[in-house]
Amino acid sequence: FVHQLADESVGMDELLISPLRLEPQPSLPLPADLYGPKRANSQGLDLAVASMREPLLAALASTPVPTMPEASTAEAEAACAKAVAAFAGWNHTPVAERAATLRRAADALQQQLPRFCALLVKEAYKTWGDAVSEVREAVDFLRFYANDAERVMAPQTLPGPTGESNTLRLEGRGAWVCISPWNFPLAIFMGQVAAALATGNTVLAKPAEQTPAVALEAVKLLHAAGVPANALQLLHGPGETVGASLVAQPGIAGVVFTGSTQVAKIIQRALAAKDGAIVPLIAETGGINAMLVDSTALPEQVADAVVQSAFRSAGQRCSALRLLCLHEGIADHVIEMIQGAAKELVAGSPAALATDLGPVIDAEAFEGIGRHLTRLHAEAKPLLPAAAPATTLPNLIPPQMFEVKAIAEVKAEIFGPVLQVVRWGGDPMDVIRQINALGYGLTLGIQTRIDSRAQALAAAARVGNVYVNRNMIGAVVGVQPFGGEGLSGTGPKAGGPNYLLRFCAEQTLTINT
Ligand code: SER
Repeated sequence: FVHQLADESVGMDELLISPLRLEPQPSLPLPADLYGPKRANSQGLDLAVASMREPLLAALASTPVPTMPEASTAEAEAACAKAVAAFAGWNHTPVAERAATLRRAADALQQQLPRFCALLVKEAYKTWGDAVSEVREAVDFLRFYANDAERVMAPQTLPGPTGESNTLRLEGRGAWVCISPWNFPLAIFMGQVAAALATGNTVLAKPAEQTPAVALEAVKLLHAAGVPANALQLLHGPGETVGASLVAQPGIAGVVFTGSTQVAKIIQRALAAKDGAIVPLIAETGGINAMLVDSTALPEQVADAVVQSAFRSAGQRCSALRLLCLHEGIADHVIEMIQGAAKELVAGSPAALATDLGPVIDAEAFEGIGRHLTRLHAEAKPLLPAAAPATTLPNLIPPQMFEVKAIAEVKAEIFGPVLQVVRWGGDPMDVIRQINALGYGLTLGIQTRIDSRAQALAAAARVGNVYVNRNMIGAVVGVQPFGGEGLSGTGPKAGGPNYLLRFCAEQTLTINT
């Protein structure tokens, strides 16, 4: 290590010494401590799952997955009319009351954590760890946006030189269409809906067609907490029909969408083509997320961070690591460690407590990833054996890793447990420039012991979230605002202090006193 530092020509005072994050975290049942002191490892989550083993397994046995009929175009139209009519009442409900309603929903969700986890395992094939983490995130979104709405919506008096009274006040914009993905069917669904509701908007929620049951139960919970029926309506069905019909409704005031870049652009074009008001779009999309590892990085920390970021959740996070850029001096050693760690991962049924990664969401996803794997087997060097999974469970893909020759070869986001690795030498700033040139801008991992280098690379990277010497997934609501730029989305960042503003209309009231 000292030798590597000499190669890098840096002094001891420049070193970033962050230890491996392996501190045991308090075993939770909630609510007292949602996270424990550090979240950059999965150990706290494993403890939480272990401590809730009995209620989780009992919920698995007793929780049915409800079905829901698809909405027709006529139903989408009627729902929109109701949402527009309900806007004035909900918008004029004091923000403190709306916030209290969301806090009641947060309390109820927290109490029903095992049941919602069971639904996530059964409908979205989440592992128990991912399910617990997702319910916590949904609870956090409810509480965070409830609190933040009270903060941002307080009228501001703006003193100044005009001799008049100037006040800025915020209110809702109208009926919002919230289109959410299957990979976080509770957390992202709840985040979008809570943000729109907290700020006085009414909501037409269109969950991913793969995960309507989680959304249905979430909506029931919000209605039971006091959200009026017409202020929040759920419409299930494919994006191409139900989603498109909602986006086309003349009365809507905004669209918030999380999903693919391609669909975000379809929505943007549809909104632009409509007559009438200019309708804002908040889009959070994917990324070809990279991790840059220099020769001073701690190999154990890199291997742990890579396995968690690339393979956990079956790689089905928009934040997941897709492209690992290893300094040539340490590449062989680090690859060997990742190979060892990846082989330890248990790919299997999500219902089993020991499972680290479950199946991908459906046959269509499985086949799409399969096409990329066929191409990579032809064009790149496989670094993990293409072992057949030890189960016949459908749509299961064990971790896959390939070495490619250049960053520019990585053109597509592969939404599964597939990692591409590239070696680099020379100036790490060149690596960042090549990553920027891919056009996405969601997450970036940096592994280095050199503080000034981490700061400089982060500043040069055109990405929304940079993680240094840790994994690059699982942004915590309120403290790690999440979202990207470029092909990765429009911003503002979910769970951050600027998110709610985009859901609001602003009025300046000037009175000549
Ligand atoms: N917010 C998630 C994460 O940070 C990704 O969608 O991993």
